[in-house]
Amino acid sequence: MNQQSLWDTFYTIQAWQKETLDLPQICANKRILELGCGNGKTLKAILSQDPQAVLAIDFSGEALKRAKEMIQDLRVTFLHTNVLALPGDLGTFDVIVCYYLLNNLTPAEQTSLIASLHSLLNPEGTLLLEDYTTGDHREQTTHTLRRDFISQERIKQLLANYTLTSCAENSFSPYKQSLQQRRIIRASAIHPVSSKKYDNSG
Ligand SMILES: C[S@@+](CC[C@H](N)C(=O)[O-])C[C@H]1O[C@@H](n2cnc3c(N)ncnc32)[C@H](O)[C@@H]1O
Repeated sequence: MNQQSLWDTFYTIQAWQKETLDLPQICANKRILELGCGNGKTLKAILSQDPQAVLAIDFSGEALKRAKEMIQDLRVTFLHTNVLALPGDLGTFDVIVCYYLLNNLTPAEQTSLIASLHSLLNPEGTLLLEDYTTGDHREQTTHTLRRDFISQERIKQLLANYTLTSCAENSFSPYKQSLQQRRIIRASAIHPVSSKKYDNSG
């Protein structure tokens, strides 16, 4: 089964219920692009900041079905497509949110996606990344969904053509009476005003 079908199956069985916490407060009155929006966990947090408009993309039809059930908001446009094959007429955005998507891509796909975002982000626009990082308990489990966890070094490599404004790892135990460690990485980067053409190596 390919990754898209696996995600569809995932969303027929379960969906994330809680709203994402700690999304930086930079979305008010802005045009936002959310990549890999799933069933809307982070989208809810974006909308709570009163953005001007949000384009929310996912390749799982099941995820979008659930997101649309939960979120009916005229500011949101949902797009059912693969983030690795984005249409060329999306316009540009002030903020691009990419939460827990990169680990689902191969390293080459991660590089290609981040490169493609350069032309979608307004000068001085912000790219927000959050993902599982090395040492997260999910590394120990065999999983049919792709998992390629993101280290700090990898973030710095991926964002070499942006101005990195923050990059920090955080670990905590999400489950009571369990030694499982959740390890995440959060980064934000700004599109430099005078950016060079993106070098897609690495
Ligand atoms: C772990 S979920 C994250 C959902 C959401 N960003 C959040 O913060 O709750 C990853 C999402 O990425 C989507 N996804 C994975 N690879 C994708 C791709 N190549 N194109 C579009 N969506 C993709 C999956 O369908 C899934 O909904």
